[in-house]
Amino acid sequence: TSKKKLKGKRFLVTAGPTIEKIDPVRFIGNHSSGKMGYAIAESLASEGAQVDLISGPVQITTNNPNITIHPVESANEMHQEATTRFKMADGAIMAAAVSDYSVATPSEKKLKREQTGNITLELIPNKDIAAALGKQKKQNQILVGFALETDNELENATKKLQKKNLDCIILNSLKEPGAGFNVNTNKIIIINNKGEQKTFSLKEKKEVAADIVQYLVENY
Ligand code: PMT
Repeated sequence: TSKKKLKGKRFLVTAGPTIEKIDPVRFIGNHSSGKMGYAIAESLASEGAQVDLISGPVQITTNNPNITIHPVESANEMHQEATTRFKMADGAIMAAAVSDYSVATPSEKKLKREQTGNITLELIPNKDIAAALGKQKKQNQILVGFALETDNELENATKKLQKKNLDCIILNSLKEPGAGFNVNTNKIIIINNKGEQKTFSLKEKKEVAADIVQYLVENY
């Protein structure tokens, strides 16, 4: 009967994709399934934490009594929920794949190709949610990001860690077979703000989540 190490703590987790409306029936999205973020929420909850899970549209769910799901669609909605709820949290883990752009002027009516011919969508950059929390962060709060990379992985991840004022960043690379979007497994390297790295082997996302929570318990 090991003692629950996060009893009395409150965590924010972001998970899944965000989607950006083009018109009432179409959107821009990405391949995130939410599996990584939901596994982290479950893992935090199993150590006794209360979890606010801010989730983009996904096919999975959880009925863990310690997890409250706050469903959102767009990056703007996720930003709103996250910046509000972070104030009450001891820490946040940002596993969502947030859209980097939204459509400048989504159409109120379904676009019809017979009427529009070729169209060009104007995209505007979205706010960086992790960076916003990095600015808002107090001494006693911990902020953990992910980095999804395809090249110059360690360098890019370290840049993101610094730019967003994170305590550590979890690198997953699309170059690694069995890592990243949608699959049930992941392979990660955790980098902290002292530049120290810890490399893990390829495993189930549930086990990866347990490794991440274990790392946080041991180091913070
Ligand atoms: O959902 P799954 O199918 O299980 O897949 C898991 C995953 C691959 C989505 C996950 O492990 C992961 O890597 N999530 C982060 C994906 C991503 O968008 O990474 P990034 O390198 O673009 O962003 C860096 C960090 O900033 C991330 O913590 C991201 O959540 C955050 N971010 C990015 C942009 C933005 N506007 N706001 C943010 O908060």
